[in-house]
Amino acid sequence: MAEKKAFVTGHPIAHSRSPKIHGHWLAKYGIDGTYQAIDVAPADFAAFLKGLWDNGFQGGNVTIPHKEAAFALVERRDEAAEAIGAVNTLWFEDDKLWGGNTDAHGFAANLDDYAPGWASNGPAVVLGAGGASRAVIHALKERGVSDIRIVNRTLARAEELSRRFGAGVSAHGADATGELLADAGLLVNTTALGMHGNEGLSADPAALPAHAIVTDIVYVPLETPLLAAARARGLWAVDGLGMLLHQAVPGFERWFGKRPEVTAELRRIIVADIEAH
Ligand code: ATR
Repeated sequence: MAEKKAFVTGHPIAHSRSPKIHGHWLAKYGIDGTYQAIDVAPADFAAFLKGLWDNGFQGGNVTIPHKEAAFALVERRDEAAEAIGAVNTLWFEDDKLWGGNTDAHGFAANLDDYAPGWASNGPAVVLGAGGASRAVIHALKERGVSDIRIVNRTLARAEELSRRFGAGVSAHGADATGELLADAGLLVNTTALGMHGNEGLSADPAALPAHAIVTDIVYVPLETPLLAAARARGLWAVDGLGMLLHQAVPGFERWFGKRPEVTAELRRIIVADIEAH
């Protein structure tokens, strides 16, 4: 059978860790396939999608800045993509180009690994109201979290998300954070604060009760200031790398026909890559 081809596209794309993840699985499972990073400028993205099938691709991943354009251009969307308003995974099914979103799955699967029972730990506070926040809120709703509190520097963006996701999702400005954390069971940072080059604390975990879980979707650095502050306080903290690893699983299965495993070995490979750069 002919070699199967998949890709990740973004602009820029050189620093993507997806080729390492999928390359590891292709080698591990002995699959005759490739997964390459392709830089596509926004102006060329629609033409790139049109040419996928003729260029022999089974599908691929889409990252910044193409996730919303992919959402608009695909022929069919899965439920998660509809809810989140962005597409990160493409594949062909019944001669149609499908777009899905696996970020919510990645978020939930990471917490399932490192904080089992997380979804019934009490109210959730989500810091940030951008694209990543939408994926997190969708995951929380799917898993039955009934009190989701979005906190954002720009209140209007939090309000927009609260309207979008409906019952059980409230919007707050940053000044309310301390009060909202006092009885929360889960704190999620989706803002760029704490990211390498953007050092800062998006909230003080000291305001949380002792049973709370703290997680960050940022994974460079692996130990963000928020996670370090949570651990220093004795709280359970989960880094964001597992979300990256787990979001890759459904795409690999669609393109290459094998559901891959997120293992300690894969995590070590990506941690080494983060530490090397
Ligand atoms: P993404 O798709 O990664 O979520 P985004 O849509 O640009 O990116 O959203 C970034 C989020 O980080 C927003 O919630 C943003 O707050 P605003 O909506 O007020 O801009 C938040 N953010 C970024 N830098 C921040 C900072 N220095 N302080 C507080 N929030 C910040």
